[in-house]
Amino acid sequence: MTNFNRREFLKFLGATGIVSVTSPLHASNVRRVTHDPSIFPSSLDDLVITPLLKKSTLISWGDQISKKDRFGFNNDYNAIVPLKEDSALLWTNHEYIHPLFIHGEMNPDKKTKSQIDQEMYNVGGSIIEIKKLKNGQWKLVKDSPYNRRITGQTMIPFSKNISIAGNNFAMGTLSNCAGGTTPWGSVLTCEENYDNFYGEREHGETNRSKSDNGWEKFYDNPPEHYGWVVEINPKTGAAKKLVSLGRFQHECATVTTSKQGKTVCYSGDDKAGEFLYKFISSDKSSLENGTLYVANTNIGKWIPIDLELSPILKKHYKSTTEALTHCRKTSRILGATPLDRPEDIEVHPKTGDVYVCLSNNKKAGNYHGSIMRLSEDKTNPLEFKSETFYAGGTDFSCPDNIAFDSKGNLYLTCDISGSKIGKAPYKKFGNNGLYVIPASGNNAGKAIQIASAPNDAELTGLCFSPDEKSLFLSVQHPGELTKDLSKPTSNWPSSKKEDTPKPSVVELRGPLLKNLNLLG
Ligand code: FEO
Ligand code: CA
Ligand code: CA
Repeated sequence: MTNFNRREFLKFLGATGIVSVTSPLHASNVRRVTHDPSIFPSSLDDLVITPLLKKSTLISWGDQISKKDRFGFNNDYNAIVPLKEDSALLWTNHEYIHPLFIHGEMNPDKKTKSQIDQEMYNVGGSIIEIKKLKNGQWKLVKDSPYNRRITGQTMIPFSKNISIAGNNFAMGTLSNCAGGTTPWGSVLTCEENYDNFYGEREHGETNRSKSDNGWEKFYDNPPEHYGWVVEINPKTGAAKKLVSLGRFQHECATVTTSKQGKTVCYSGDDKAGEFLYKFISSDKSSLENGTLYVANTNIGKWIPIDLELSPILKKHYKSTTEALTHCRKTSRILGATPLDRPEDIEVHPKTGDVYVCLSNNKKAGNYHGSIMRLSEDKTNPLEFKSETFYAGGTDFSCPDNIAFDSKGNLYLTCDISGSKIGKAPYKKFGNNGLYVIPASGNNAGKAIQIASAPNDAELTGLCFSPDEKSLFLSVQHPGELTKDLSKPTSNWPSSKKEDTPKPSVVELRGPLLKNLNLLG
């Protein structure tokens, strides 16, 4: 049954009162959750959740994690690295800052060095130890020796001692959007909109563009030092920038074992008209050596970014490292297929198919985006088929982050930009939401909303606890449209009208995570 037909069918059932429920005890919830528009979509300034879940705030911007350090701003990607049965490390990305909330100065030309230092402290990532309490809720272990920050000022080497723009290390990591984990226990954090901090410089040019945040005024760091995937050892905080995975606005880095038994990593360049990449590692437990490929989805082929394998690149570059440093130009030379903002990528736990969020491309008239599904060839690692798995516009809009549970249920969060929420053509979706697309049961294949974000915010950073009884997620940029601190557009997580909003990591728990048939 197509999504549309299924929706109509459910409406028909609702109208006739023939709604099947698995347990009479849950009948009232079931009816409200799936069919009562008073819950979803929502425009309330709150994290609104289905009654089949409960919520708790794990940590918020500014919370002390150790005697020395505080949790950074605008938390995005979350990754869990288990320690013992009831304890784990949580890595969290801090993507970008809102100067009004950090220090109050909105004009980049007027910022002082001390204000820029505060901004640099608030991006990067946090590592915290968390522990599961007897009631199942996870809590921060304050002052754990693991708790630490990686910031915009942490010195980070390039992998294999490679020199980029004259240096074998970079100052800091920033624009840390989504990421990934590796089978060998490290975390990958991806540098996305780096040009907002140090500007950009085209290949072969000497001048850089001016950045929105103006960090180059006090720190003359080259733009080429950003736009990489950074590999973090969450136990020690050791970090390195992986040159092998290329430089572009990395949304995520999703590692899996390919059908040919190789360690591979998928990553998208989140800008309209940019590309999708796959790295095939030469090693089992490292991403430092191998070949990066870019997708031509028209013919279903991966094209190598390597001067020997794609000799046309020799006309433009002296080395593969140079081609990897300028992936956008390289991919255009190689005839890769421009896509509509490739965002998060996940691999289906049973089929191995690769799901890619294509958020939108407003300039091209694609307002709602879609989720694309790639099926890799069983024998040829450089061939695949692609199709649209789920088009946005009906049940959700602007898909951004996804996560599978072990049964293959797909959880999805959306990112309608703050200034467009509640306006055409996005009005009917309300605030940004969390949806689930069940793999089986009564609602198989249908996106159903189960949570809604506070004002201006997006929900992101979906991450299950090892037992899948808790779903962590980030509430990012609540109140980002605020122009006057005395009149914030959101107060979340507070309900006091004058309070400044605080991006936070929250935990959702409840029977729904084990049984999606409770949705009706
Ligand atoms: Fe930072 Fe593409 O989202
Ligand atoms: Ca994102
Ligand atoms: Ca994800």
